[in-house]
Amino acid sequence: GGGTRDGARGLRFTPVGPNTADKVTVPEGYAQNVVIRWGEPILRGAPAFDADRQTAGAQAGQFGYNNDFLSLLPLREHGRQVLVANHEYTDEQLMFKGYDAANPTREQVEIAWAAHGLSVVVVQEERRSGKLTPVTRHWLNRRLTATSEFRLTGPAAGSALLKTSADPTGTKVLGTLNNCAGGTTPWGTTLHGEENFNQYFANGTSATDKRYGLTTGATERKWERFDKRFDAAQEPNESHRFGWVVELDPYDPDSTPRKRTALGRFKHEAAQPRLTRDGRPVVYMGDDERFDYFYKFVSSKRMRKGGSRAARAHNLTLLDEGTLYVAKLTGDSPQDIDGTGKLPNDGEFDGSGVWIPLATGDVSHVPGMTAEEVYVFTRLAGDKVGATKMDRPEDVEPSPRTGRVYVALTNNTDRGKAGKPGADEANPRNLNKHGQILELAEHWDDPSSDGFAWRLFLVAGDPEDPATYFAGYPKEKVSPISCPDNVAFDPHGNLWISTDGAQLGSHDGLFGVATTGERRGELKQFLTVPKGAETCGPIIQDRRVIVAVQHPGEIDGATVEKPASVWPDGPGRLVRPSVVAVYRKDGRDIGV
Ligand code: FEO
Ligand code: CA
Ligand code: CA
Ligand code: CA
Repeated sequence: GGGTRDGARGLRFTPVGPNTADKVTVPEGYAQNVVIRWGEPILRGAPAFDADRQTAGAQAGQFGYNNDFLSLLPLREHGRQVLVANHEYTDEQLMFKGYDAANPTREQVEIAWAAHGLSVVVVQEERRSGKLTPVTRHWLNRRLTATSEFRLTGPAAGSALLKTSADPTGTKVLGTLNNCAGGTTPWGTTLHGEENFNQYFANGTSATDKRYGLTTGATERKWERFDKRFDAAQEPNESHRFGWVVELDPYDPDSTPRKRTALGRFKHEAAQPRLTRDGRPVVYMGDDERFDYFYKFVSSKRMRKGGSRAARAHNLTLLDEGTLYVAKLTGDSPQDIDGTGKLPNDGEFDGSGVWIPLATGDVSHVPGMTAEEVYVFTRLAGDKVGATKMDRPEDVEPSPRTGRVYVALTNNTDRGKAGKPGADEANPRNLNKHGQILELAEHWDDPSSDGFAWRLFLVAGDPEDPATYFAGYPKEKVSPISCPDNVAFDPHGNLWISTDGAQLGSHDGLFGVATTGERRGELKQFLTVPKGAETCGPIIQDRRVIVAVQHPGEIDGATVEKPASVWPDGPGRLVRPSVVAVYRKDGRDIGV
């Protein structure tokens, strides 16, 4: 229609409609390029991708599988930036011809280890367009995998709970696993959430293993056959060394990345920092599980400005000292929330909240738990203090304009089922398929505050469904959306939301929505992704949008021989998770 290019500044594009095209669909007037695919070489000496001759050695120098979180950091080289990507997990059926899930080979397992982790790769922008291409063999390029060295730091490092037969110090870990979303710090490092680490460990039978959902028998990938540390019966503490927030210094390719124990251990979706007025970092973090919690960490140390070696060294200690909190939310509506998503009679899903302290350094605030136990078994600490059970907290992002914090609660189809918690004002729908976005305002706009106000900004779904809410904006003017997962702000203060769930007969996609002004709540779809894919890692710059197309073709029963998607290279080629840049054909800024 004629008015479709209307919108808040930054959102003036013709929305992409719901669709099931096996490609990345972008608005009229926009172009795209694949920045980098799984398997493209990034390190010196790494070979070109060869689907028929994959090796662990090759993969260790190539871009990993299933790109999720993306960060772009500045670089003092003309037209270049540093791209950091998470590689959350592997889809062996789509990677290997004739894959036998019951009997993976050692080479396949080692390729999967090398395809997990993180990539650092410098990218170059084309002068006249928004196109991005990798600079292979740049000296900053780096791969971290499931076998690279990481160090545990902070108050739980060296704890008996973190010691294994291979590491009696409890400080040295091999690998990072299941890095989902993350964050970029104001001091130029990146944070990476280790999310569903439970799936890699076999025979997890203790009470804490159970709370973290470890596999009780053999794992799907059978890694325990090739390295006993993945067998909890033999190495009960190895899984304790995963489920942390990793901090990486992408500017120092020789640095050992850190797992920051002060930020607690759970299924870390993401970790998004901001600074208090006096310069202390505060990190918001969700635990992505049905009925799990939302957390924040407040550092006791101030960031030092400037790029001196001493300032950088100091800033790399900021996330080791401080207080870990969990959120408890209370609704203010005078009536019970009935679970249908119908607005309460005070017109809004809203209320107040408190941050309950769990531990500060070596001091526990949770009765019956030591500080080390609070950090290693943070979920149990949240259980003890009565934190609010949320609908799967995914990514979180504070608005750089208003300070309000946006939390994606992706869905919770178990809400209200027999024996499970029912709806509350922050999680107002039973059998919640579509999710919601919560807007949190810290008291006095102080990120270190111990209290906050909150309201639901979006209750997702088909706008024709009376149980949806778009910040009060007229629903006939918004795009349908389901399962919000990653969130990011553009330079104009609009919130961008990528989805993972595709519950409305369309593929997943990326949406922009105004958060302030008359158009607050006006949601517009910017792109959709290929069949079976989730949209991840959105970065919205002036001239381009970058997304990670994760797990394209991941449909039950799909294999290399019987693919569900042929993106990005067409029939006869492997489907490959890839990073995509989208920009305007006329070279102007996005959405203006
Ligand atoms: Fe890996 Fe919570 O999505
Ligand atoms: Ca209310
Ligand atoms: Ca996610
Ligand atoms: Ca997700």
